[in-house]
Amino acid sequence: MMVTIILALFATTLIQGMVCGAVYDYGAYDSTRDNFRPGTFPDDFIWSTATASYQIEGAWNVDGKGESIWDRFSHTPGKVDRGDTGDVACDSYNKYREDVQLMKAMGLKYYRFSLSWPRIFPDGTVAGGVNQAGVDYYNNVIDELLANGITPMVTLYHWDLPQALQDRYGGWVNETLVDHFNDYADFVFQTFGDRVRYWITFNEPWAVCVVGYGLGFHAPGIQDSGNSTYLCGHTLLKAHARAWHSYDQNFRRDQGGQVSITLSSGWTEPFDPDLPADVVAADRSLQFQMGWFAHPIYTSEGDYPPAMKDIILRKSLAQGFQESRLPKFTPAEIANISGTYDFFGLNHYSSGIVKDKVLTGQYPVFWTDQDLKSTVAPEWPQAASSWLYSVPWGIRRLLHYIKQHYNDPDIYITENGWSEEEADPPILEETGRLCFYMGYINEVLKAIDLDGVKVRAYTAWSLMDNFEWAEGYTERFGLHCVNFTDPNRPRTPKQSAGFYKDVIANNGFPEGAEVTAMVRSRWEECRGGPGGSNPSQRRALSSLLPSHRDVQLSDNMYNMYNM
Ligand code: BGC
Repeated sequence: MMVTIILALFATTLIQGMVCGAVYDYGAYDSTRDNFRPGTFPDDFIWSTATASYQIEGAWNVDGKGESIWDRFSHTPGKVDRGDTGDVACDSYNKYREDVQLMKAMGLKYYRFSLSWPRIFPDGTVAGGVNQAGVDYYNNVIDELLANGITPMVTLYHWDLPQALQDRYGGWVNETLVDHFNDYADFVFQTFGDRVRYWITFNEPWAVCVVGYGLGFHAPGIQDSGNSTYLCGHTLLKAHARAWHSYDQNFRRDQGGQVSITLSSGWTEPFDPDLPADVVAADRSLQFQMGWFAHPIYTSEGDYPPAMKDIILRKSLAQGFQESRLPKFTPAEIANISGTYDFFGLNHYSSGIVKDKVLTGQYPVFWTDQDLKSTVAPEWPQAASSWLYSVPWGIRRLLHYIKQHYNDPDIYITENGWSEEEADPPILEETGRLCFYMGYINEVLKAIDLDGVKVRAYTAWSLMDNFEWAEGYTERFGLHCVNFTDPNRPRTPKQSAGFYKDVIANNGFPEGAEVTAMVRSRWEECRGGPGGSNPSQRRALSSLLPSHRDVQLSDNMYNMYNM
């Protein structure tokens, strides 16, 4: 009986995926996709850079700040590469004025940064009291930005939960946090909302739940990927919706701002585009990354994606659970979460190739729930980060997919970037990052001009080198180099900062501009040259389709991380 139910569910999933039009048209291969396309972005296009509180601020125990889960995690031996911590990081708690000047020098008009919840509420709760020095700090940052003509875009949660909420409730697996997050959100809307018009509730719920509560590579370091991961996602969706409604009801009229969430997703290409099972698997992979949060928020039917609900139920029953490990929303909750957005915040870095593969396992695991294997093409240049490959056309496909599946929203790219290894002397002329930005920004332009995608903003990650989570300072994403061995943490522009400045000044690549000539002359070099920061780089930006069938499929599901 059980076997019949499982087979029936499996067949339904496959057929649903294939007949409901849910699956992207992977056949649409554009032979001109690797060509450079000159042109400019819309006049009101937003160019930005981003950072996050724990990654840059330092001052971890200064002026009344409470401990965060990342303070605790990085102080625990063995959790972060070399034992690096964010205790000082870029020292932006003291050097924020200098940071603003870096942005000004690049001609930036927007900046995305995050608030440290425990700097404002040391134990995470309003009852525990507000830390005025923390409020003063963010008031100063916001005022300094505005005085320099830079619009702040503020993330409420970029992973540094107050440790007290972890200790007391177990963190995001506990729905009590919905109330505490809402209290915190209300306070910051009230306090900073007279000057802040762009809000992001959560940065990358996928990473919070999969890496923090599943793999355990990030704080709080919990390894329970088949259960806690989904509970965490459930709470975050509710917390996001609650804060969105608070803003909508209490602040929108007076403040006129926008509130959304930032989701992370790679692009996934089927291993064999002619094999329906691989096509469905590639789509399923997107559902487990982006759809998990996008379907409940950005579709009118709401709720988790059918592909995710079906497969997790099937796996759960097979493992002897009475019901799905994916929690259920009530109809009222589904309605409450659906539509809680003002734009689509997207962090995108890399792409992957996915093959359908039935994975059986006695134990509940997020990865085996997906029934797929992922790999990459051998010609994709790799960054210093193990999960990051340069696949510029992937961003265009992903943007088009979002347009088609999530109600053609305004899309704000809230992160996109490239890492190189820490080096001595530091790498200031970074071919890999330059090629990455040229390719990805040009593909965003194509998405706007050729596919009609409403991309409103592009944000480079990151303004400067910073604390790269479990990798510490060994991987560098900055447009500016930071010397972490110097107590003054001096910042030095890299070549990519100059390139980005030129793109911003020209609003893209107009004919006749120096930056356009430069991209033209380097384009082929980026496509075929050895370039890049990683010595293992092979031919860049080449066509995927003719060669990917030779790829040795990887068993390492961690490749999926942060694609
Ligand atoms: C995160 C950043 C991180 C970047 C590079 C994103 O997932 O939001 O905090 O530094 O990726 O790994």
